[in-house]
Amino acid sequence: MEALQPKSPYSSETTITELMIPSYANFGGKIHGGILLALMDKVAYACAAKHTGNYCVTVSVENVEFLQPVEVGELVSLKARVNYVGNTSLVVGIRVESENVKTGKVKHTNTSYFTMVSKNDKNETCVVPELLLEDSDGVRRFFEAIIRKYNRQQFKHEMDKAKNADLKKEISQLKNERCVIQLKDDIK
Ligand SMILES: CC(C)(COP(=O)(O)OP(=O)(O)OC[C@H]1O[C@@H](n2cnc3c(N)ncnc32)[C@H](O)[C@@H]1OP(=O)(O)O)[C@@H](O)C(=O)NCCC(=O)NCCS
Repeated sequence: MEALQPKSPYSSETTITELMIPSYANFGGKIHGGILLALMDKVAYACAAKHTGNYCVTVSVENVEFLQPVEVGELVSLKARVNYVGNTSLVVGIRVESENVKTGKVKHTNTSYFTMVSKNDKNETCVVPELLLEDSDGVRRFFEAIIRKYNRQQFKHEMDKAKNADLKKEISQLKNERCVIQLKDDIK
């Protein structure tokens, strides 16, 4: 099989800009978070498909925090770039900005990371091209993705430990939390 050529993150960089129309709003008049998530998934797919030349699926989404509300009438731009590639997966970083066209004011609403997996026509996972890093920003993003991956593994390990924790011992840790414990069963 022919070796895949490394590709620059700039060759698959993708931006989607969309006008926030009234049907995207919630009862409070702000844009639904789900609308933004759907747009993020779309731009992540486009970027990953360009890098891999294949169909890609979303496997995980990290760092979704809506830091500022988005208003009807604003122009939302989602800029996606491949930050990291593994063997069959790749991480697409997405920066979301919202612009008030009247004032020109631009808000950074969030930066999130989508892990996508490349699939072939038989729906099998397949190897993705290496990332050609030609500037220090690219190296920094790649490095940060490795740290996030490591932290995710650590977090999973901690959660597995928490699931198997001895609740009889740990329940005292909840004494300063805002919960009222009135057990109707025995602690397992
Ligand atoms: C994504 C999917 C192919 C992974 O299958 P799998 O059996 O876990 O495959 P593998 O273990 O070989 O993992 C494939 C890659 O995904 C990565 N991966 C798997 N689970 C992951 C997770 N929770 N977070 C981040 N990466 C993950 C693995 O690290 C591996 O990356 P690498 O090849 O670069 O090292 C499979 O879970 C799937 O098809 N999910 C449905 C995806 C989908 O349909 N999404 C649309 C939204 S519904």
